[in-house]
Amino acid sequence: MNTLVIGASRGIGLEFTRQYLQETGFIKVFATYRHLSPELEELAQQYPERLALLPVDVTVEAEITAAIATIKTQTNTLQEVVYCVGLLHDDQLQPEKSLRHIQSDNLTRYFQVNAIGAVLWAKYLLPLLRGGDRPIFAAISAKVGSIGDNRLGGWYGYRASKAALNMLLHNVAIEWGRVAPNVIVALLHPGTTNTNLSKPFQKHVPPEKLFSPELTVSQLRQVMADLTPQNSGEFFAWDSAPLPW
Ligand SMILES: NC(=O)c1ccc[n+]([C@@H]2O[C@H](COP(=O)([O-])OP(=O)(O)OC[C@H]3O[C@@H](n4cnc5c(N)ncnc54)[C@H](OP(=O)(O)O)[C@@H]3O)[C@@H](O)[C@H]2O)c1
Repeated sequence: MNTLVIGASRGIGLEFTRQYLQETGFIKVFATYRHLSPELEELAQQYPERLALLPVDVTVEAEITAAIATIKTQTNTLQEVVYCVGLLHDDQLQPEKSLRHIQSDNLTRYFQVNAIGAVLWAKYLLPLLRGGDRPIFAAISAKVGSIGDNRLGGWYGYRASKAALNMLLHNVAIEWGRVAPNVIVALLHPGTTNTNLSKPFQKHVPPEKLFSPELTVSQLRQVMADLTPQNSGEFFAWDSAPLPW
């Protein structure tokens, strides 16, 4: 079995990569990065035969197609694909606390990274997924992207881009369901996880609700293992609880 982790340089994606490599059942692990981290580089040195690193900025479609072409030179089947790319804050952008912080450029960036990147990958992945036995394309979404669950407001761009991710991949699930009904598309909420993304917002999170990346990925892999094609296109939390759109 082969797997692909999109956004593997750090956080949840790095941990998915590590766990897949620890299991001998996954023969080849393809992992994409934008900035190559020392941790991912170290894994590549540790598993030179099994880990293939691919540079991809998900906002550049040509980099996605180049990575797909490289993968196809090495295999024609992927069993699991996990989209772990995400943006909440960086040097130039902070989540909006209020409407007065809305900026068109920032909204565009949130949508490009959190939503459009995932559907661009989906555009090219079906030939690699459809040959597998119960193949899965999972994207890490976020509960704050649930419109039904939104009682606090704020974080306009992040929330809206995750809602868009959910809609885009729900659509993909419908389309693939017609032509490749064995493929599962899943949207997963990881729970608050101790990574760079959540770091500035951890102050009020009780310790038992702040998961390590190890725990998060084990929990998400359990959710993924329990899914069937009937669940394709649905949105689940780390404990398998279905989430409202
Ligand atoms: N941590 C949490 O509490 C939490 C909660 C709910 C949902 N999530 C979601 O979980 C997913 C993983 O987040 P995380 O906590 O692991 O965050 P993280 O540690 O900040 O990692 C973010 C990842 O996104 C990648 N990335 C950002 N922009 C990119 C671009 N343009 N092209 C390619 N890669 C890009 C980064 O790659 P480089 O390092 O190579 O730039 C990095 O691998 C995200 O979708 C996030 O929204 C996290």
